Order: sequence, then C-alpha cells, then structure tokens
Amino acid sequence: MNMNTPTLEELLEKTWRLLIRGANDKKDPLHLATIGTTNQQTAEIRTVVLRKTDIVNRLLYFYTDFRSEKIQQLTNNPSLSWLFYHPKKNIQLRAYGQATIHHQNELTLEKWQTLPSYGRKTYGTQQAPSTPLPYADDDLPNLWKVPEIDLAQTEYAYANFAVVTCVINRLEYLHLQRAGHRRAAFDFVGEEWKGQWMVP
Ligand SMILES: Cc1cc2nc3c(=O)[nH]c(=O)nc-3n(C[C@H](O)[C@H](O)[C@H](O)COP(=O)(O)O)c2cc1C
Repeated sequence: MNMNTPTLEELLEKTWRLLIRGANDKKDPLHLATIGTTNQQTAEIRTVVLRKTDIVNRLLYFYTDFRSEKIQQLTNNPSLSWLFYHPKKNIQLRAYGQATIHHQNELTLEKWQTLPSYGRKTYGTQQAPSTPLPYADDDLPNLWKVPEIDLAQTEYAYANFAVVTCVINRLEYLHLQRAGHRRAAFDFVGEEWKGQWMVP
C-alpha cells in the first residue's frame, strides 16, 4: 500500500461524491448509468440517466416509462444493479440495491413539474415502449409535431411517468492505474458501511 492510497473511509466518501457529481452534472460520464434487472434466466441491461444521488438515505434515482418492461421486471424482483464508468479517471463503480417504483404519487408529481416539454416527450408515446411497429416511427401523437409544444398539452403523459428510487446496500469501486490497480467493496450492514479491499 503506498502513501497515495486512500483509507476505505475516504474511498467510500469519494465514491458517493462521484455519484453526486454524476447526478448533478449533465456532462459528467457518471450521468449515464447502465442498470441491470433480472428477467427469468436473463440479465437485462440498459442505459438510464442518473437523476439524483441522496447520500444520507443511500438512494439513487432514475426516471422511466411506467409501461416499460423494466417496471415489470422490478415488480417481480426489485433487486437492481448499477454500473458506472469514468473513462478519464479509469474508475468503474458498481452499486446494488432494492428498487421502489413511484407512480402518480407526491414524488412523481414534484419531479414531473420540473420537466420541460422536451423532457416529457419520452413518456408521451401512444403505446408502451417495446410494442412492435409496422414501420419506423416515434409513436408520438400529432400534437408533438410542432416546433414547441405547449406544456399543458404534455400533461397526458404524466400517467406514464415513473420515478425509481433504489436504496443502495453495496458499492464496489475499481480503479485501474499503472501504479497498481485498486478495488474495494462497501456493504451496508446493520447501521453502517463496512469496507473491504479486494484483489482487483
Ligand atoms: C443516452 C440514453 C439515455 C437513456 N435514459 C433513459 C432513462 O433515463 N430512463 C429510461 O427509462 N430509459 C432511458 N433510455 C432508454 C433505455 O436505455 C431503454 O432502451 C428503455 O428504457 C427501454 O428499456 P426496457 O425495455 O428494458 O424497459 C436511455 C437511452 C439512452 C441511449
């Protein structure tokens, strides 16, 4: 172990700071996450935007379409995995937790009200995501076919808007560097995080 290696405590703090920046900075590489759910015998993965990191409550947030397949998968099994990669820092973060689906409640209303019309567009398709189409199309109703849609006209899409919060109980940090790779895991056990260095 060299002098530049942080303590496990410092590393946990750094990991959360990276996730907070990822949520708050649209240009940060950690703003996009790959999330994994289970679907019978298959691991399902896809990209989402990390919308919020709440270090106090150990929560990560993303928004989605309530009709999307991941919602059914999370209903069947709320175990949710997150993967982040920072190419400049050569850092990979993995997070594991239990998801809660929010739909038409106080939280979704609060978040929906912050979304501009272009942010609401993804939730406005006529049919559920993954529905087969006979030709290439965005499946949006005609009212979207104007340069700037009136916000009031987007309200119908609120019915499709969901917020998923995930309480994190394990974090894994991996830093690849010439001076020596570093890997550690943190598990929330009882009322505190327990860190462990691992073979990278
Ligand atoms: C850059 C990018 C960002 C995305 N962000 C989200 C997101 O925040 N929430 C979401 O549900 N899907 C997002 N998607 C689409 C998902 O990757 C996925 O295709 C979609 O949600 C359907 O997934 P499912 O069928 O597994 O439910 C994003 C895709 C890309 C390429």
